[in-house]
Amino acid sequence: EGNLRRLADARGMDLGVAVAVEPLAQDSTYQDVVSGNYTSMTAENTMKWSLVQPERGGFDFSGPDALVDFADEHGMSMRGHTLTWHNQLPGWLTEREWQEEELRQVLQEHTEALLGRYQGRMQAWDVINEPFEDDGPELRENLWLETMGEDYIAHALWTANAVDPEAELYINEFNVEGGGAKSDALYELASDLLERGVPLHGIGFQSHFVHGRVPDDLVQQMERFTDLGLDVAITELDVRIPEPVDRKQIEEQGQEYRQVVQACLEVERCPGVTVWGAADHHSWVPEWFPGTAEALPFDEHYVPKPARSGMVDAL
Ligand code: XIL
Repeated sequence: EGNLRRLADARGMDLGVAVAVEPLAQDSTYQDVVSGNYTSMTAENTMKWSLVQPERGGFDFSGPDALVDFADEHGMSMRGHTLTWHNQLPGWLTEREWQEEELRQVLQEHTEALLGRYQGRMQAWDVINEPFEDDGPELRENLWLETMGEDYIAHALWTANAVDPEAELYINEFNVEGGGAKSDALYELASDLLERGVPLHGIGFQSHFVHGRVPDDLVQQMERFTDLGLDVAITELDVRIPEPVDRKQIEEQGQEYRQVVQACLEVERCPGVTVWGAADHHSWVPEWFPGTAEALPFDEHYVPKPARSGMVDAL
């Protein structure tokens, strides 16, 4: 069948997986799928604000520590996720108004605590997550924009860079993988930041795809950004299938996974592909996109699907 992890290593490509704390602690099959197939991990939730800093100044690093330790033990790298986002923020942060200076201070403290703790152990950080409105092209009206203005983006990147100068700093976004107005706006933003010398190193294409709608021109869309001198990683790949799911769709999904890994191999500055979950019963898809399912390379019994073979074939 081919060893996915070894093949990815041999191609010098990161193959990552988003992981959750509980199954990683409790389920040995889950552990084996993660460490046996992938070279890299992203925390699916446990490094988000509401979990890391549930009270102001009250940090909980138990989940993040467990993940980073697992990665170290198994010789895997890590992508950090995520610093400024509009979701999964603690109540103390969202339920009041902030003065700009205060919020800068809060972001500074959070960045020092989280990025500082894992300094040297994180390959990359999604410093900015989903900065544009769902369908773009406007910047999203989140807490950060409302309080600090557009420069929250540059500010967060500078802050992260000061704390962890080695980490690759990313803007991570969705609905940009096939071009269009939102992608153009992201391109303008990235160009502007680079012109100003802001420490931005990469763009994450989240790649939450629907079966049958993986963009044909993914390579060109990625290269538009790599031509700016940035890396472009596939950071949250899944391919959800409208129910009822049949065998043919699962086979076609295998080709779609293959296409995405191939695209990354083809693009010179694509460091890797991360899939958004270890197996279908741990996927966010059924809850967030009701009526769709089976989006990942392993099924609910951890049996590898054609999507896994598709990635092997690409490698
Ligand atoms: C999702 C997680 O997978 C879910 O478990 C959680 O309930 C909500 O967040 N874009 C992102 C990720 O950047 O952090 C999101 O993860 C999926 C969409």
